Amino acid sequence: MIDQKSTVDAMQFRMAMRLPATAVTVIATGTDDDRNGLTASAVCSLSDSPPMILACVNLKNSALSTIRARKAFSANFLTAQQASVAELFAGRTRIYGAMRFSEGAWTTLFTGVPVLSNALAAFDCVLECEYESPTHAMLVGRVMSVLQNSDSPELVYRRGEFCRSVPLPMPTEQGSSSQAAG
Ligand SMILES: Cc1cc2nc3c(=O)[nH]c(=O)nc-3n(C[C@H](O)[C@H](O)[C@H](O)COP(=O)(O)O)c2cc1C
Repeated sequence: MIDQKSTVDAMQFRMAMRLPATAVTVIATGTDDDRNGLTASAVCSLSDSPPMILACVNLKNSALSTIRARKAFSANFLTAQQASVAELFAGRTRIYGAMRFSEGAWTTLFTGVPVLSNALAAFDCVLECEYESPTHAMLVGRVMSVLQNSDSPELVYRRGEFCRSVPLPMPTEQGSSSQAAG
């Protein structure tokens, strides 16, 4: 390992990381009054056999202790219509804990933790294992149930803003042949 201090400061890192678009999820956990959740972009597929999700949660996050106690969480990928849910679970409206579930169509599947029924895709997971960095818990979730609403456009976060992604126009055959002809 290279034993040198990084010359990249936090601001430089943040400015570069905010350029690529990321999917936006709400990680949810708990039942009844101990429900809690957070908006998270550090969520991805880990494997399909068995189906596993990786989610990175700050050690200071208020939902982490409930995820650990319940040994379950859901990862709900949001649609472009759910930007207000993302704001709510990011703590931007100063609403905390179970009160955050007042918005959104929440249901339960296999594990009993909240799952957003009209999410783009939602993964109901048991906590298989976790790894801890000095700042974040890297949670590995074994996916027990899935739901999807594939017709909805996805919510993305880029350059500090919630956006909807739009497909690139594909060149028509006529357009591409005239381009090739110069
Ligand atoms: C777009 C976006 C992505 C975020 N991604 C993560 C993430 O991957 N992991 C994380 O721990 N916090 C992430 N956060 C921050 C949490 O949403 C925020 O700290 C949390 O909701 C605060 O909840 P608490 O006050 O209950 O602790 C993200 C915030 C935003 C706006």
